[in-house]
Amino acid sequence: MPVIVSQHPLLSDCLAHLRDRRTGPVEFRQYIRRAATLLICEAVRDIPLKRTEIATPLGHAVGELLADRRVVAVPILRAGLGMLGALLDLFPDAIVGIIGLHRDEKTFSPREYYHSLPENLSRKTTLILDPMLATGGSLLAAIALLKKKKAGDVRAVTLVAAPEGVKRVERRYPEVRVYTASIDARLNKNAYIIPGIGDAGDRIFGTAK
Ligand code: PRP
Ligand code: URA
Repeated sequence: MPVIVSQHPLLSDCLAHLRDRRTGPVEFRQYIRRAATLLICEAVRDIPLKRTEIATPLGHAVGELLADRRVVAVPILRAGLGMLGALLDLFPDAIVGIIGLHRDEKTFSPREYYHSLPENLSRKTTLILDPMLATGGSLLAAIALLKKKKAGDVRAVTLVAAPEGVKRVERRYPEVRVYTASIDARLNKNAYIIPGIGDAGDRIFGTAK
């Protein structure tokens, strides 16, 4: 499954604000959340529905409800937390798993420091939330943890991706769909996405030096 680059004027607007170095943490968090809402809608476009009969105030209608309201959301700490509110607005009954990863500054490999995931995800739709897909190491590590929990339908929602990371994930897990607002030009020597949006965790949590 190729990466899906979502195109919507509202998403373009969010991305332009997120890219702007003058955007401070308050606005940055708002735009991350709004962009996440738009991308999550795209990522769940085909989830199953079930038919239902509805008595309206004036008559009768046939409608469709979500077959499973309890999708599984897995934000990757820290930056993925900035997207969790958007998911919970759309799926208030979601089950939330957490994965804590931190990229080593020299090797760029992710170091896992925490995870708490539901068991047996084989029948669930699982959405990984992380605004950045750079080398792809963090997403690969997250997918590997979810596969240990038997996850079948895994989708990743990311705001900005680098071609290098996209290729790595596609090669290792071709069945995982990756939704993004942009595939940017490249990584720099510190494995940051160019032009990108900078360090997403620092910008969300106001810890930029
Ligand atoms: C960032 C980002 C991703 C990861 C992407 O997190 O939120 O999780 O880097 O890079 P990769 O594709 O090369 O693995 P970071 O490790 O900086 O942690 P933080 O969110 O706690 O700042
Ligand atoms: N993590 C970020 O927050 N930004 C990047 O550009 C790469 C990794």
